[in-house]
Amino acid sequence: MALDPHEFMSLMSRRIGFTEHNKSVLQSSEKWGLEIAPDMATVFYDFLGRDEEMNAILNESDGRIHRLRETFVEWFHEMFTGMDNWGNDYADRRWRIGLIHVRVGIGPQHVVPAMAIVNQEASRRLRDAGQPDDLKEALERICMIDLAFIEQAYVEVAAEAVLKETGWSAGLFRRLITSGAAAM
Ligand code: HEM
Repeated sequence: MALDPHEFMSLMSRRIGFTEHNKSVLQSSEKWGLEIAPDMATVFYDFLGRDEEMNAILNESDGRIHRLRETFVEWFHEMFTGMDNWGNDYADRRWRIGLIHVRVGIGPQHVVPAMAIVNQEASRRLRDAGQPDDLKEALERICMIDLAFIEQAYVEVAAEAVLKETGWSAGLFRRLITSGAAAM
């Protein structure tokens, strides 16, 4: 595997500025996070279900949407608990979520608006519940880290597949992408 999820977690935390203060704010609101998680899941899947293509994926097999609601609640709650204080278990779990989306064939263009809905809805609920601004900041930052994992998974899986199939070096592949982009 080209990407080391543990290193990626540290890198993203540094880049996004996910601080110890952000972590303690999230952990202290963990109960609230769990409380709103089922309603957040409803808003999330209603949003995805309004898109014909995504709706077809969500209902592709029996019980999928039901299972997804449960995994969404877990996922949302984990952003507040941090699992192992946003360590290796957290990183491995986020990487796995990314890989599952690649496997199921959900394009990156669907994931960004989906995370935007999570942010919008959470912000609205934070405001209505009179929650502090630093919880909003902490939640936005961890959402962006989780989004980075899902998006990066596409790039990593695509690059790995091409390198494996062609035997090209990573350097050659990067040059082809750069020159390809310049030619577009
Ligand atoms: C903010 C973006 C998203 C988050 C946080 C998210 C979260 C998750 C989680 C936690 C899982 C379960 C992974 C596991 O089984 O370990 C999952 C699986 C899945 N997600 Fe997403 N998701 C997102 C975007 C999307 C979008 C845009 C779609 C489009 C329809 C989608 C459809 C699916 C499907 C089909 C599965 C696999 C379900 C199965 O196991 O049958 N997700 N997602």
